[in-house]
Amino acid sequence: MTERKPMIAGNWKMFKTLPQALGTARELVDLLKKPPVADVMIAPAHVFLQPLFTVFESTYVALGAQNVFWENEGAFTGEISPPMLTSVGCKYVIIGHSERRQFLSETNENIRKKIKAAIDSRLIPIFCVGETEAERDAEKTFSVLDKQVRKGIEKFSRDELKDLVIAYEPVWAIGTGKTATKKQAQEIHAFIRSLIEKIYGNDLAKKMRILYGGSVKPTNIADLMGMDDIDGALIGGASLEADTFSKIVYY
Ligand code: PGA
Repeated sequence: MTERKPMIAGNWKMFKTLPQALGTARELVDLLKKPPVADVMIAPAHVFLQPLFTVFESTYVALGAQNVFWENEGAFTGEISPPMLTSVGCKYVIIGHSERRQFLSETNENIRKKIKAAIDSRLIPIFCVGETEAERDAEKTFSVLDKQVRKGIEKFSRDELKDLVIAYEPVWAIGTGKTATKKQAQEIHAFIRSLIEKIYGNDLAKKMRILYGGSVKPTNIADLMGMDDIDGALIGGASLEADTFSKIVYY
């Protein structure tokens, strides 16, 4: 039915120490011996990228970063550039996560610059969008998403966006145990896909993977994956333990 390969992505956020990260990564590799249907990614903290690459190399787990800066090099203390990420084996980068929008003042404009820089360095962006609870209550969900999506990926060529992944993460469902129902999520995913179609045409819209994120667990993944426009999941809390995450991978 769909030509889109599913994707199961884990975002470890600001959790784990180096020994813990290595331990979980090794356990995960042991649990993921059978070829998964989905592309699998783990995004640890930046400092663990290189050591984890040595564990994930030649396995089914790809490496992702949780953020990136939009210049390739320069006097930007504390920032990490796209070529730095590719040089330690990163394939993906999460951009515009709601926690960065909320706590680190990321704007739609900065997010667009990051997406552009990532693509120029051949990193695959996982571009996050999502409404807050207040926005949903005020019935602004569609207008908020419309703006986030349009601003984040405006003025690209279709070719530049061919591998881009979008993650729809309602802020009210992140880390709260409240998941959007599969119908709620499907409705938004279909809306985002139709928006891509309007801006970039049907071919790109059909190919683009749209992940759902927000309290995804082994018990709700299969239902979500059963929906037409849900192509995978971005998982926070439930990605921290190898056993739980592997159950989601083999949903
Ligand atoms: P959660 O986080 O799975 O812990 O809700 C999702 C995310 O922030 O990507």
